[in-house]
Order: sequence, then structure tokens, then C-alpha cells
Amino acid sequence: MKAAMDIPGGGAVVVTGAASGIGRAAAAAFHELGASVVAVDVDAAGLDDLRSRLGGRSRCVPAPADVSSGPQVAEAFARAAELGGCRVLVNAAGIGINKPMLDHEENDWDRVIGINLRGSFLCLQEAARQMTRQDMGEDGGKTSGRPDRGRIINIASVVGFRPGPIPEIAYDTSKGAVVQMTRSAALEMAPHGVRVNAVAPGPVPTNLFGTPPVQPEGPMPLGYGRVDDIVDAVLFLASERARWITGQILTVDGGWSIRSG
Ligand SMILES: NC(=O)c1ccc[n+]([C@@H]2O[C@H](COP(=O)([O-])OP(=O)(O)OC[C@H]3O[C@@H](n4cnc5c(N)ncnc54)[C@H](O)[C@@H]3O)[C@@H](O)[C@H]2O)c1
Repeated sequence: MKAAMDIPGGGAVVVTGAASGIGRAAAAAFHELGASVVAVDVDAAGLDDLRSRLGGRSRCVPAPADVSSGPQVAEAFARAAELGGCRVLVNAAGIGINKPMLDHEENDWDRVIGINLRGSFLCLQEAARQMTRQDMGEDGGKTSGRPDRGRIINIASVVGFRPGPIPEIAYDTSKGAVVQMTRSAALEMAPHGVRVNAVAPGPVPTNLFGTPPVQPEGPMPLGYGRVDDIVDAVLFLASERARWITGQILTVDGGWSIRSG
């Protein structure tokens, strides 16, 4: 796993939500594996901080953008095109609004769906366009006899399958839709040699989730996880080892979802 990432034909890894949490750790991990990384986030200062942490001569290109804006997404992916095209996309940008359903306002719904679902779709579509346009050279970009033009990993959530204890209907809905979008896109993209999968994390400490409660085991049979537990699953799905896996949702939750109550 810690060998250099086998990115087909070079090119770039695009990570959204790269200024914080899971996206930031994923961007750093791909960079450490030798990839050129286009780091996308609305938080431009956070991206600059990531870049400086990765070192002065880093292969990390900050691309500040709001993923719910088509023109801004296109601008961010132009950075990937300059690096030879997007070969891996990690769709990690996201927000949550914790509020009872009866208190949700139209704007709450639109913001969460706009960033988590529309934003993930816009990035997925732009990445797939670049991947399907790739001139893969003489071997056709094949590994294991199959075309291999790119890998897309969406960050869903366990609450996309089963609502959690916190009321967040727009968030739960957005993540359920990301699950289905992953399967739909995987089916359409398979003939083009683009694999589309998702990781469904359980709660891990980030700005979005906050700090876990004091009792370390929490509701997870394996106890609370960390951002790196999620990133390792992302790296696996982005790797050649996952070459025959597409349209799948890999739950990484310390066993939270197998509990009956
Ligand atoms: N942390 C968890 O427990 C957990 C569990 C399940 C799923 N997730 C999912 O993981 C992903 C990453 O979340 P995290 O926990 O690392 O949170 P985080 O808040 O640490 O990071 C999210 C990042 O997304 C960025 N972002 C927000 N709106 C954006 C926009 N419009 N355009 C571009 N970037 C935007 C933020 O600036 C931030 O840097 C999210 O999709 C989240 O729903 C997290």
C-alpha cells in the first residue's frame, strides 16, 4: 500500500475538501506516494497551509473553488488538465446541518444538497470527461487486460444507509444519493475504463464531526476511528489492487452499522 501510487499514465489526483479533515489527509497521502495533487476547497487559506506543510517544492496545486459552482469546478479541473489530466478524483468536500426536520429551511436543504450532491456530481462529471478523453498511449492505458483510464472515489457516509442519532435530514439524503450516484456512474463509466466507488465513513474526528465523546469505545464495536482509517480505504480503491471493483460502497465505521440498536 505504501508503494508509489500506480496512477495510469501520470496525470493528477484531484481531491476536493482538501483544506481539512479527510480530504486534507487524502491529499497529503497521495502526495506522499508521489502524485501531483490538485487540492480543491472553498477555504483558500487552508489550501495554502496544506501546500506549505507539504514543502516548498511540492507537487500540490491549490485550486480554490466552490464545488457547487459549475464554472469554478471547470476552472479547478483546468489545473488538472495542465498536469496531464485527472486520473484520480476524491470527492470529499462536504457540509452538514444538524437540525430537526421541522426546522429545516429551504436554504439549509439547498446548501447541503448543493455542496454534497450537486458538487460531487459536477466534479465527478468533469473528472470523467477528462478521463474518457485521455490519450493513454500505445498500451491503451490497460492494466490486467482491461482499459484503465481513471478512478473516482466519492465520500458518502454510513448515514446514507441508516440515519444516525443526530437529526440531519438533508445530510442523510445527500449521502444516500451519493451512494446511488456512485452506482449509476460506475455502470456508465465501466466501458470507458473508469472505476467509480465510494467510501462510507462512520464518525471520525474532523471539523465536520467534532471531537468524539469521552468514552473511547463510543457506539462502535472497534471504538472510534481516525481520519487515516478512512484515507487507507480511499488509497485502496484508487489503487490497482482494486482493479476489478466498481460501483461499490466500502463502509469504514469500526462496525457501527452492524449494531442492531
Ligand atoms: N468526519 C466524519 O465523521 C465523516 C463521516 C462520514 C462522512 N464524512 C464525509 O467526509 C467528507 C469530508 O468531511 P470531513 O469530516 O473531513 O469534514 P471537514 O469539515 O474537516 O472537511 C470538509 C471540507 O470541505 C470543504 N468545503 C465545504 N464546502 C465546500 C464547497 N462548497 N466547495 C469546496 N469545498 C468545500 C470545507 O472547507 C472543508 O475543508 C464529507 O463529505 C463528509 O460528509 C465525514
